[in-house]
Amino acid sequence: MQYQRILEPIVTMVATLATMMQQDITPESAGTKATDKDLVTKADRAVELLLRKQLASAFPDYEFYGEETGGAKPGKAGRKRRGLNQYTWVVDPIDGTLSYVMHQPFWCVSVGLWCNGQPVAGCICAPVLKETYYAEKGEGAFCNGERIHVCPHGKLKDSVLSTGFSCLRAGWKEVDNLKYFCELSRLCRGVRRFGSAALDISYVASGRLDGFWELNLQPYDIGAAWLVLAEAGGVVTDLHGKTDFPKEGILVAPPDLHAELLTHFKGYRRPKN
Ligand code: IPD
Ligand code: CA
Ligand code: CA
Repeated sequence: MQYQRILEPIVTMVATLATMMQQDITPESAGTKATDKDLVTKADRAVELLLRKQLASAFPDYEFYGEETGGAKPGKAGRKRRGLNQYTWVVDPIDGTLSYVMHQPFWCVSVGLWCNGQPVAGCICAPVLKETYYAEKGEGAFCNGERIHVCPHGKLKDSVLSTGFSCLRAGWKEVDNLKYFCELSRLCRGVRRFGSAALDISYVASGRLDGFWELNLQPYDIGAAWLVLAEAGGVVTDLHGKTDFPKEGILVAPPDLHAELLTHFKGYRRPKN
């Protein structure tokens, strides 16, 4: 593993900072961003700034793209500078900020490393759950050092799924996820709403969820979990079965279940902004 011995301690350290800062966090102390449902705290910003500093010191030539401070977009085109590959850290300092603000356990620090728009390493640390997910391209996926795999069965009727509702937070009117939530809830064993997309996807990778979908995630939400899922044997596509995720939605599951789930998103169209 080329990055783990440097990356994992950095992510663990900043997750500890977030846990310490959480003691002073209340819903009232949180700020808002695009809408009053989209919360941000001083911990989100502090964690991202510390990650930016630590990663720049260890990998000075790598770009950084974070939810709170922006930066070089790790686009699929993947700008090649002077013929070199573009390595970009894709960072969500706290995924599950609403859970974090409410002092619920389901939140994490998510750091992915992409090269020309494709993931090469990913680290997700959920300190309250005491779980760290890690993957590097071609090296497998791990939770606390134990190899993980997606659940082998492929039947929707036997499945436990999860999703999120960022489309509602963004105020989408023409289409929202409630339609798919209601339809799939009738057909599967249960649908969970844990509040952290990175952990939702990591739970699919470790077989504790069978599948996950969402309509309106951002690259930093999946920056690390994309690779953890793929290295655990899962399939990740957009809601048309193609590769324009997360912009055109995202659907992750083991291969057979992914194919069955995809049939329920026929005709999906992302609303024009
Ligand atoms: C959110 C979480 C949530 C998902 C939202 C994301 P944030 O991330 O991942 O589960 O439904 O779409 O924005 O805002 O807490 O970093
Ligand atoms: Ca997020
Ligand atoms: Ca976040």
